[in-house]
Amino acid sequence: MIAIRLFAFIFTLTLVMAVPKPLEKPKHKEFDTCGGDGEFPLGVCRYPENCCTIEEYLMQKNIGYNDVPSCGFNSPFKGKMICCPKTDTQRTTSGPPIFRFTGTHLVTMRYFKNEEMDDYAYRCTGVLLSSSHVLASKQCAGEEGEELIRPSRVKLGSQDAGRVDDKADIKKDIKKLTSYKNDLVLIKLRTTLNTTQLMGNVSIAKLCHPDDLKGYPNFFAAGYSYSTEKNESCTKFTMQLQNLNLKECNNVKVTRQIEDLATDQSHFCLRPLPIYKEGEECSKCLTATSSVLHVQRMDGSQCVAGIATPTSNEFIEEDSPLYFTNILTNSVSDFFNENNVGRTN
Ligand SMILES: *[C@@H]1O[C@H](CO)[C@@H](O)[C@H](O)[C@H]1NC(C)=O
Ligand SMILES: *[C@@H]1O[C@H](CO)[C@@H](O)[C@H](O)[C@H]1NC(C)=O
Ligand SMILES: *[C@@H]1O[C@H](CO)[C@@H](O)[C@H](O)[C@H]1NC(C)=O
Repeated sequence: MIAIRLFAFIFTLTLVMAVPKPLEKPKHKEFDTCGGDGEFPLGVCRYPENCCTIEEYLMQKNIGYNDVPSCGFNSPFKGKMICCPKTDTQRTTSGPPIFRFTGTHLVTMRYFKNEEMDDYAYRCTGVLLSSSHVLASKQCAGEEGEELIRPSRVKLGSQDAGRVDDKADIKKDIKKLTSYKNDLVLIKLRTTLNTTQLMGNVSIAKLCHPDDLKGYPNFFAAGYSYSTEKNESCTKFTMQLQNLNLKECNNVKVTRQIEDLATDQSHFCLRPLPIYKEGEECSKCLTATSSVLHVQRMDGSQCVAGIATPTSNEFIEEDSPLYFTNILTNSVSDFFNENNVGRTN
């Protein structure tokens, strides 16, 4: 009897000792961002069995499970959800913590660099909407008559905007640019991509369903980073974002006229959670690259929800809030229909 009591006592004690410290803000969901507060590295809420970095981290820091922040959620089957630290490579190369991002639906655009139009560079990011349409931020379009700042071609299937002559890339001439308010531009390709071209490194984007925005979506931005240096290798990047109340974007500097900012569901306000890497030559500025807003779904798939709003041409601090134009609104789908985008989802 005493033995059983003693056992129960030790068992309870072990349980109490094993309870990780709660974070200040409890009740995070699985895959939410956590840590990054100086005491603990940036991480993702996960169950210990799914966290492949925790053992190594505990060993390196010579600490125990007790010192790992909890995400404030306790599953009867999987135990306490913990803040699973991200490694440097996970943070800098594969962006969103858990799932691989290939971004085969992203394209980049070609711009002439001089009056002679014999030298060019690729920059800006667009989304392949159909076999002959690309959607991008209005700032990628330039103005009528300004050939130097109007894109002439799109490049599809490339990992790298900086490398100019990759035989594996598919390039398509642009036929027409159509604006949606001052936010977006629809790019019609001169020829349609055929089924062979829509395989492998190129795919049509999956747009999010309104349900993907319910609760606490796991947002991230993706785009082509760029450099003004020739031959600099600049690949696609991803950056996690924190969803904010629209009011938090009140201080965003707006130098271009944008309709309906901060008045309805037409824009999102998000703050990037950037990871700085020493010696990085490629710009990942979310507005300048006209990055694309994605949702990381629980099942591992990803969908597109918006495009960085071109509020200003100026550089914006990488960790200040910014607007993204919601492309899931009725108004944007009407625009797609008027322009015969012919999407199936
Ligand atoms: C698709 O287009 C490419 C490039 O124009 C061409 O080489 C290929 O034969 C086409 N494939 C089909 C199935 O039409
Ligand atoms: C995809 O891209 C890689 C790297 O550029 C290239 O080697 C490969 O041939 C491409 N695959 C297809 C199916 O085009
Ligand atoms: C850029 O790459 C091309 C082809 O790989 C090469 O011919 C050229 O010299 C390089 N330019 C610079 C500035 O490195």
